[in-house]
Amino acid sequence: MSKPFTVAIDGPAAAGKGTISKAVAAHFGFGHLDTGLLYRAVGAKVMAGADAIEAAQALSADDLNVDGLRTAQVAQAASKVAVIAGVRAALLDFQRAYARRAGGAVLDGRDIGTVICPQAEAKLFVTASAEVRGKRRFDELMGRGEAAELAQVIEDVRARDERDAERVVAPMKAADDAQTIDTSDLSIAEAIAAAISAVEAVRGTA
Ligand code: CDP
Repeated sequence: MSKPFTVAIDGPAAAGKGTISKAVAAHFGFGHLDTGLLYRAVGAKVMAGADAIEAAQALSADDLNVDGLRTAQVAQAASKVAVIAGVRAALLDFQRAYARRAGGAVLDGRDIGTVICPQAEAKLFVTASAEVRGKRRFDELMGRGEAAELAQVIEDVRARDERDAERVVAPMKAADDAQTIDTSDLSIAEAIAAAISAVEAVRGTA
């Protein structure tokens, strides 16, 4: 087993982090953790009546495998529970352990390069304009057969970005040593290639 190597991929909603993270993990043979799913799972439990901190403390792998975590409603619930310090604290150790697993790991989220794994070997901040991100999320929702309106989806993405960036605990922001990739004018293949070459540049020296 090779030694730990962490790729931290942060950025705003629907910027393409998930697609890029999966491709980077496959390319290097690393594990991939979508940390947004942790907050979505807690958000879904709160929507079902649970206490946020208790839900975060009791979270299990099974909770991440339930249907419906990718809806716009759960995304909003996720960003509301994500401002709670006790929720973030409950999810910290699991993410840190995953980041340093043998064989390498890609984690995507909002605070990976700043709080979860400041010592990550490679840090990317993947972003795009709110309009482009809203349109991508709109197409994704349509593809899944969910009813949505473009203007509303863009508004939801903006509201979530604002909540994520303004919160006191672990706000979304690029780490000082992160490389920013703006995917507004990039195809998926171009965005993936840019991310892989950014990681390769560090991988060669790590
Ligand atoms: O897929 P998308 O970019 O829309 O969102 P996500 O990555 O699934 O994250 C859902 C929500 O969880 C975000 O809006 C954040 O509020 C929260 N989150 C967080 O606070 N910290 C993370 N590391 C990951 C997600």
